[in-house]
Amino acid sequence: MHEVFTKSMARNIYYGGSLFFILLFLALTFDSQTAIATRDNHENLTPQVAAGKRLWETNNCVGCHTLLGEGAYFAPELGNVYKRMGENKEAIKVWIKTRPVDGVPGRRSMPQFNFTEEQLDNIAEFLKYTSEINTNNWPPNIQG
Ligand code: HEC
Repeated sequence: MHEVFTKSMARNIYYGGSLFFILLFLALTFDSQTAIATRDNHENLTPQVAAGKRLWETNNCVGCHTLLGEGAYFAPELGNVYKRMGENKEAIKVWIKTRPVDGVPGRRSMPQFNFTEEQLDNIAEFLKYTSEINTNNWPPNIQG
């Protein structure tokens, strides 16, 4: 028998296919939204972390560093710096505090920001917080 591809068959494929992929899109969007809510560890989002994020933004750290892959490639990734520095907030604070005003000769160097002790605490809390976000193990190695 001679098979005929009719207009109504074409229409059914068009509407059926569209409906299928719209539903798939909605289901995956819902899945992403529910997964993200369990991963951002928002229960640890303290006022200190928020203040640290504000310092991160107002001092343009992202102009040199990446944070979880987002930012500039001049300086090391900082999403996991808390882990890289042995889960030690003090080490992060000391690093930021001791940057020489004139830079380090022959090296890419980081500015001296003259932060107060409280600001350093906030930044360290923020970097601890970012290191605890479930990112499916991004960055892939400890160096970032
Ligand atoms: C002008 C560019 C620049 C800016 C802006 C900058 N940094 Fe850096 N930072 C660097 C460079 C370069 C290094 C690596 C230096 C080295 O290894 O000697 C570094 C290293 C670091 C490290 C140590 C990383 C490691 O793995 O050892 C931390 C922590 C850090 N920066 C935090 C910050 C924070 C927080 C800010 C914003 C307040 C900031 N940086 C802004 C250039 C910058």
